[in-house]
Amino acid sequence: LDNGLALTPTMGWLHWERFMCNIDCDKDPENCISERLYMQMADMMVKEGWREAGYEYVCIDDCWPSHQRDAQGRLQADPKRFPGGIKKLAEYIHSKGLKLGIYADVGKNTCAGYPGSLGHYETDAQTFADWNVDLLKFDGCFMDWTLLGEGYTNMSTALNQTGRSILYSCEWPLYEWPFKKPNYTAIRETCNHWRNYNDVDDSWSSIKSILDWTASHQDTIVPPAGPGGWNDPDMLVIGNFGLSHDQQESQMALWAIMAAPLLMSNDLRHICPRSKGLLQNRRIIEISQDPLGRQGFCTIKVDNFEVWERPLSHKRLAVAVLNRQETGGPRGLVIRAVPGWKICDPQCNVTQILPEYRELGVQPPKSKVVLSVNPSGTALVTLTPISSRFNMYEL
Ligand code: DGJ
Repeated sequence: LDNGLALTPTMGWLHWERFMCNIDCDKDPENCISERLYMQMADMMVKEGWREAGYEYVCIDDCWPSHQRDAQGRLQADPKRFPGGIKKLAEYIHSKGLKLGIYADVGKNTCAGYPGSLGHYETDAQTFADWNVDLLKFDGCFMDWTLLGEGYTNMSTALNQTGRSILYSCEWPLYEWPFKKPNYTAIRETCNHWRNYNDVDDSWSSIKSILDWTASHQDTIVPPAGPGGWNDPDMLVIGNFGLSHDQQESQMALWAIMAAPLLMSNDLRHICPRSKGLLQNRRIIEISQDPLGRQGFCTIKVDNFEVWERPLSHKRLAVAVLNRQETGGPRGLVIRAVPGWKICDPQCNVTQILPEYRELGVQPPKSKVVLSVNPSGTALVTLTPISSRFNMYEL
């Protein structure tokens, strides 16, 4: 969507995977969906270096509103859990130098049964703009699939007409795929990012299924991605309970390769230093946010390894090698700076980022670089071409 937003993939925090629809603030005040939760996350984002690392949006998901619209037909936040209201919350988030995201649904109800926006697109867009909201995640439950395109497009127009810059996150293709092949040209013109596939959960099997879906649909979904419009493989679950550290590194590396939004769903008040270091790894974030804005894709599956490559600016290349074998120990894969691999013609500088940072130096043609990769882990490297002496005089 050409609204000047999401020129690189969105970075921030989104409540859903970790906090879901927990609305019991009497029993669980720490973790229930309430203004307090977002204020505390915002505090942590400033205090613990997240904002500085690039994480900017604090996003509300389902279960924030009251079950009734107000007398003017507007959505309103649950008064018990959001006593200050969303406008106040946005003010607080902005005072921290962050942005606020909210959630609604294109259909009659949200997935959790709260009021949907069908028939209220203009009112709801205006309400979000009046509250100074910065991002809208627009879900697709309780909607006739033949009306999805119209609904998502009308909301996009309604947001635009408010005059406020609101990043627009869609789930249009996810809800359309069971019935027809989505029109990604239209989706890209309408949304800043879009979900294609199932919700992520806190497990390695979920991450694998997302990667498999993405690789098997890459010819369709990679070309439309670029500045202003991205495929969204769903939240980062790094820092939770279900992934080993190697698997967390795999999610981080592959989400950067896929030019995916980096929306964490974890508890920033309780996160281990290793997961925090991974999520704040400047070299991986630099790949994610590369200004060329091209999405990477799977180039080889061999011997239970998957190689994923993302073209970067200045003719650089990021390469992730994922070890899909879940038995035994670390296994080595040789990558060769062969002349056929244009990037390393005649030679390139290799920097390893994961599992740890190492400068592997300038590699002459045909030299072998052996990457050792743990089971379900990923080695991530960048290749920077070195022009030959002769190229220097080639004008
Ligand atoms: C389905 C979406 O795909 C999820 O990300 C989340 O927003 C839930 N709905 C909320 O009900």
